[in-house]
This record gives sequence, structure tokens and C-alpha cells, in this order.
Amino acid sequence: MAKQKRIYRCSSCGQVHTQWMGKCPQCNEWNTLAEDVVSKTKSASSDISRKSTPVSLSQVTASPSMRRKCGIDELDRVLGGGVVEGSLVLIGGDPGIGKSTIMLQMADNLAVTGLRVLYVSGEESAVQIKMRSERLGVGSENILIYPEVVLEEIREQITILRPDVVILDSIQSVFSSQIEAPPGSVSQIRESAGVLMEIAKGMNTVVFVVGHVTKEGWIAGPKMLEHMVDTVLYFEGDSSGVYRILRAVKNRFGTSGEIGVFEMKSAGLQEVHDPSSIFINGLGGDVAGSSIMGAVEGSRALLVEVQALVSRTSYSMPKRISIGSDQSRLSVLLAVMEKRAGVFLSNSDVVVNIAGGIRVAEPAVDLAVFMAIAGSALDKPLPKGTVCMGEIGLNGELRPVNHMESRLKEAIRMGFSRALIPHSNLDSLGPLKGIKPIALNHVREALSIFS
Ligand SMILES: Nc1ncnc2c1ncn2[C@@H]1O[C@H](COP(=O)(O)OP(=O)(O)OP(=O)(O)O)[C@@H](O)[C@H]1O
Ligand SMILES: [Mg+2]
Repeated sequence: MAKQKRIYRCSSCGQVHTQWMGKCPQCNEWNTLAEDVVSKTKSASSDISRKSTPVSLSQVTASPSMRRKCGIDELDRVLGGGVVEGSLVLIGGDPGIGKSTIMLQMADNLAVTGLRVLYVSGEESAVQIKMRSERLGVGSENILIYPEVVLEEIREQITILRPDVVILDSIQSVFSSQIEAPPGSVSQIRESAGVLMEIAKGMNTVVFVVGHVTKEGWIAGPKMLEHMVDTVLYFEGDSSGVYRILRAVKNRFGTSGEIGVFEMKSAGLQEVHDPSSIFINGLGGDVAGSSIMGAVEGSRALLVEVQALVSRTSYSMPKRISIGSDQSRLSVLLAVMEKRAGVFLSNSDVVVNIAGGIRVAEPAVDLAVFMAIAGSALDKPLPKGTVCMGEIGLNGELRPVNHMESRLKEAIRMGFSRALIPHSNLDSLGPLKGIKPIALNHVREALSIFS
């Protein structure tokens, strides 16, 4: 006899819960949850499973039509030029950052081109999604909303409907009745990801999966989930702020590290085509403790502002806080500052922040962090119109950074007139009009800029 699992379905909004509650948390109706059972026999959806035979690489054809633009340039850029048919994309981020919003906006853009989109919602009722869609001004007939959390049911509907695009919001809310574990557990997530991969590859469907993140910022569930999917996108930024950065952490079909920048408005996520203009405030030089850096994220150069605050500590152990850049790198830079440049900060708290909520992980940020801290410690601003980029070695030497020319071109475009760069970058630079490179060998030379 087939095993059965108990679930509780809301008769008002259709939401499924794993335990009985007096009030449905989705639609807030009382006494609407009714017991239901899900058979544990395997679903008869074997027609979506892949059967393949070895084929010569030369005979495999990859047509450009395999990639589809999703109508949001910043999202297309992060995906490597559009969504690829048969791909499985995982999108993660903090609560309230905009995962469901961007999925619905994308769903509408794809739906108006004639694609059928199935939006499986395990967290929100159809009414809640309708309310969001009205706020965003979207509502194509080709979007089917399906509030469901039972994996076998979802798979069956996908087999019947054969949509071009499936969005599952979220993977933590879905469970397989074959597995005796709660939704969101490692085994449930692994099973769901396996089924979704089967759907993506077997039916050539684009599958987007929303994933929650843990306190540490990783997608909740097994790390294996990120290995299984083709693309992993993360939303960065403060959900209470207005800017959101979508970063491709992994991409089998494009450059990883690529970012898309959005502004959260009441009508949804609006693209920011010129990120430099939002991450910096003019040409700098107004306050001590600020420096501008030419960063490269994926294939894009953009200017970001590094801010530092050095203040006398009232603790026995001074505080070192780094927001948006590497915390351990900050400790290294402070040690270099003391030992190689003679700036002593052992009695000071040091806070470093990359403005705008963006994360800069590349070592090229070292010089900008160094200059912002030095500026705050000396209480002197950098000269207006100065950008800085360079990696700092443990001996205080300036090490070359990649893509220097594109960093400088972006600085010129934004009106900057001088650049502090490592000397070793100078030889590889072509002629650049509008910016004066100041080549440095050592951090001590960098400090002379303040005098
Ligand atoms: N009326 C509104 N005006 C402006 N912004 C709004 C409005 N309503 C919602 N938002 C924004 O949308 C965000 C919620 O977006 P969304 O529901 O897409 O996030 P999410 O990442 O899916 O969250 P969760 O993890 O809870 O599902 C809010 O944090 C807020 O910034
Ligand atoms: Mg959501």
C-alpha cells in the first residue's frame, strides 16, 4: 500500500502547510485549514526524464536563439546576455530585498513575448502576488500563478502545462512527499533541486529558483545546491536602502562576478544604467576620510566611494569594522600602515564602508581604503578629482591591478583628472587624455599627496 503524508490546505487561499494552525498565515483567515493527504507513490512524470546517447562534439549545434533576452538589461547582463533555454538559475538574497519582485517583472517581460510562464508560489497566495503585480503594473495573461508546495504536484502540473519558464518561489517552502523531512531541510532541498534540474534539462524549460539566505549570507540548504544549478545570482545591498546589486556568483553561461544595479521604487526594481553616478558623490575632495576607486565588476568598470572614520577608542581593544570590503584585509592594511608608513592607529577605532551597499572584493581596493583611512587619521581630504587603485603588499609596495585602462576610462568619463596608480601599471597603459596618472612604488609616497 502506498505511504501517505498529511498536509493542511487552506480552503480560502489554497496554501499548503505542514502543520495545522487555527489561522492561515497567508490569507489570515481562521479555521480554513483542512487535512489533506499526499500519496507517496512515485509520480508518473517519467516522460520528462532525459534519455541521451553519446554524440560527437562537432555535431552538436548551439544556435544563438538558445538565449532569450528577458527585457531587463541589467538582469540580462548578469545572466551573461539573457536566459539560456534549459538552464536552472538560483536567485538568493536577504528577506525583502526584492527577489519576488524581480521574478515577477521578468515573468511579465517574458510573457508578453508569448512565452508561457508558470509562477509557483510556496510562500505567497495568488491574491498577494496579484497585489504585487498591480503595484508593478504587470499582468500578462501568459503568467500562470500556482500556489503549491508539494513537489510531486508541481512536477505534474509542469508536465501537463509544459511552460517555457518556471519560477519557484522559494525552494525552502517546497517538499517532496517521498521524503520524511520538513520543508527547507537539506534532503528536501536536494530532492527539489534534482527534480527541477530534470525539468530544466529534460523539457528545455528555463527554471528560476528563489532561495533564502542564512544569517551568514549563504543560500540556506546544502552547498551542493549551488553546484547543481547553472547560475547563482545574489542580491546585495541593504534591504532598507534603495539600491540593490544583483551579482552572478556562478554562471555557466557568462562571466561570473558580473553585476546589475537596481533602484527599488514603488513601481518595482528600476535599472540603474550608470552605476558610477549613484555610488559616488561628485568628484570627492570635500571631506577627510573619503576616496574614490575605479572598480571592475565582471565586464563593467564603475567608480565607488570608500569612506573611513578613525576615532579615538574607548575600548581596550580598538574596533575594526569593514562594511563592503574584506574585514581581514583591513587588519593587514592597518599593520602595513603602522609598520611601513608610520601611521599609528593602535589607539583608534577604524570603520571602513563602501558607500551604496556594494561589496568590493578585489585587491585593487587596497589603495583607496588606505587613502581613506589616512585621510581621516590626518584629517585632510584628498585633492578633488582624484581616483586611487592599487593592491598593497605586506612590504608597503604597490602591486599592479588588472583592467587599469578601463578603470581610468571610467574615471575620465566621470570627470576625474588624476589617478594614483601602481608604478608597475604605467608601462602597459596606452595614451589617455584627460587624466594624469601619478605612479607610486610605495605607500609612503601615497601619503605625500596629503601635504
Ligand atoms: N509600496 C511599496 N513601495 C516601495 N517599495 C515597496 C513597496 N512594497 C514593497 N516594496 C519593496 O519591496 C520589498 C519586498 O520585495 P520582495 O517581496 O520582492 O522581496 P523578497 O526578496 O521576495 O522577500 P522575501 O524573502 O520576504 O520573499 C520591500 O522590502 C520594499 O523594499
Ligand atoms: Mg519573496
